[in-house]
Amino acid sequence: MCGWPRGASAPCGPTAARRRTHVEYLIRHYTLDEGALEIEYIEEFFGEFARRKTTAEITARLADREHLIVMAVAALPDDPGTLVPVAYKVCHELFAAESDPRLADLAAQLEDVVAFENRRILYSWIGGTRIDWRGQGQFRALTEEQEAWAVATGFDEVIVKTKNRHYEMRATLANLHFNVVKYVQNPIEILESKVFLSKQLGPHVLDLHRSARTRLEDGRR
Ligand SMILES: CC(C)(COP(=O)(O)OP(=O)(O)OC[C@H]1O[C@@H](n2cnc3c(N)ncnc32)[C@H](O)[C@@H]1OP(=O)(O)O)[C@@H](O)C(=O)NCCC(=O)NCCS
Repeated sequence: MCGWPRGASAPCGPTAARRRTHVEYLIRHYTLDEGALEIEYIEEFFGEFARRKTTAEITARLADREHLIVMAVAALPDDPGTLVPVAYKVCHELFAAESDPRLADLAAQLEDVVAFENRRILYSWIGGTRIDWRGQGQFRALTEEQEAWAVATGFDEVIVKTKNRHYEMRATLANLHFNVVKYVQNPIEILESKVFLSKQLGPHVLDLHRSARTRLEDGRR
């Protein structure tokens, strides 16, 4: 039984994956300015985030480095003519030497498990799917879009960080074939312990992709 929180039937696992084969996911790539505004908007719909990202924070982190902001959009059930962002994902390049203290700390924590030398490392920073759209393959579609872009852009490995408390995300990352490369225990609260996961990138990753994706014109809703 999968850990799906809502509804009687669990929308995960191979049966769910088979059921979704006919779905076409609509993906938009965003410029930094527009993407930062959209992220602030979409994060309003997440109860999980204790502290939401601001446009200033997003812009400051992404402005001078390779990055990708992608969102899946879908029609509102009561207004099929209106497309709204239902899931999003933001990733950016990470270097062994970073000047920003948060990123420097991240790179330092990864030092013993990630080879930075002569390799391009991508950090999958933030993302999620709005509650009403979960379990429909939106996050898989975005992850596959991100991976296709990452391979085409020359990245060698993608890293993601989560916490013990994020059970849904951990289960999702396992289904998306991310491997745990490091665990940093929080001495006070085990739910706050950090889990670092990684996926080696290359054409082999694209062979496993299975979501039908259409890229819409870039920009806002
Ligand atoms: C985790 C999350 C992004 C998944 O989004 P989603 O759109 O529902 O995911 P998908 O439907 O694309 O599912 C992707 C895969 O994960 C699996 N999956 C998704 N949620 C799952 C769950 N709760 N339990 C087990 N498996 C799950 C799906 O079965 C699917 O695998 P498959 O394609 O092999 O069948 C979403 O639940 C979410 O936004 N959670 C809150 C975000 C969060 O906790 N962030 C914390 C910071 S890391």
